[in-house]
Amino acid sequence: MAARYDKRYFDKWYRHPGHRVSTPAATARKAALAVAIAEYYLERPVRTVLDVGCGEGQWKAILQRLRPRIRYEGIDASEYAVARYGRSRHLRLGTFGQLPDLDLAPSYDLIICSDMLYYVPRGELDRGLAAIAAHLGGVAFLEAYATADALVGDIQDIDERDAAFYRRLFRRHALVPCGSHCYLGPELAGMVTALERDG
Ligand SMILES: C[S@@+](CC[C@H](N)C(=O)[O-])C[C@H]1O[C@@H](n2cnc3c(N)ncnc32)[C@H](O)[C@@H]1O
Repeated sequence: MAARYDKRYFDKWYRHPGHRVSTPAATARKAALAVAIAEYYLERPVRTVLDVGCGEGQWKAILQRLRPRIRYEGIDASEYAVARYGRSRHLRLGTFGQLPDLDLAPSYDLIICSDMLYYVPRGELDRGLAAIAAHLGGVAFLEAYATADALVGDIQDIDERDAAFYRRLFRRHALVPCGSHCYLGPELAGMVTALERDG
C-alpha cells in the first residue's frame, strides 16, 4: 500500500498540469478554515498540529505562514514522502491504524485528516479515530466524502461509504460536528450549539 504513494503519485495528482486535483491555493483555503474554526472554539491561537496522512507535508509551510509559532507533526504511510521530507518537514512513518502505537503528544489543538480518509481501510478507522479523539484538545478537520459526492482524482479503488457510515463512525468516537469538516472532541464538545451540529 505504502508503495502506491510514491513520487509518481504526488507528481501526478499534485504537480502534473493535466492531472493535478490539489493546488496550493486550495490547501491554503482549507488551512485558513481549519485554523479559524479551531481558534474560535479554543479562544486562543493554534499552537500544535497533528497532520495524519500528511503526504509530502504541504500543510506545514501554509500553517506556519498563518501562525509562525505552530508546532507541526505529520504522519504518513508513504515511505517516499517520509524519506524525502521527513527531516525537513517533521514527518514520521505510520498508518492511520497505527496511531495508538505512535508516541503522540498528549494533546493537539488541531488534528488534520485532509484528502485521505477514503483511502484508509475500514479495519483501521476505529483504531485511528480512537487515538484522534483521545489526543484532541481543540478541533479535528476530518475531510470525509461519501461515495455519492462528486469526487475527482485517484478514486478507482476506494470502497463504498455513505454519509451515514461516516456519521456513525464519528459518533462512536464522541466527535461532535461543528460544520465544514470540523469536529470537536470531548474537551470542547459542550461549546457546540444545536444548529451548529446540524449544519
Ligand atoms: C491525496 S494524499 C493527501 C495528502 C495531504 N493530506 C493533503 O491534503 O494534501 C493521500 C495521503 O494519504 C496517505 N494514506 C493513505 N492511506 C493511509 C493510511 N492508511 N494511513 C496513513 N496514511 C495513508 C497517502 O500516503 C497519501 O500521502
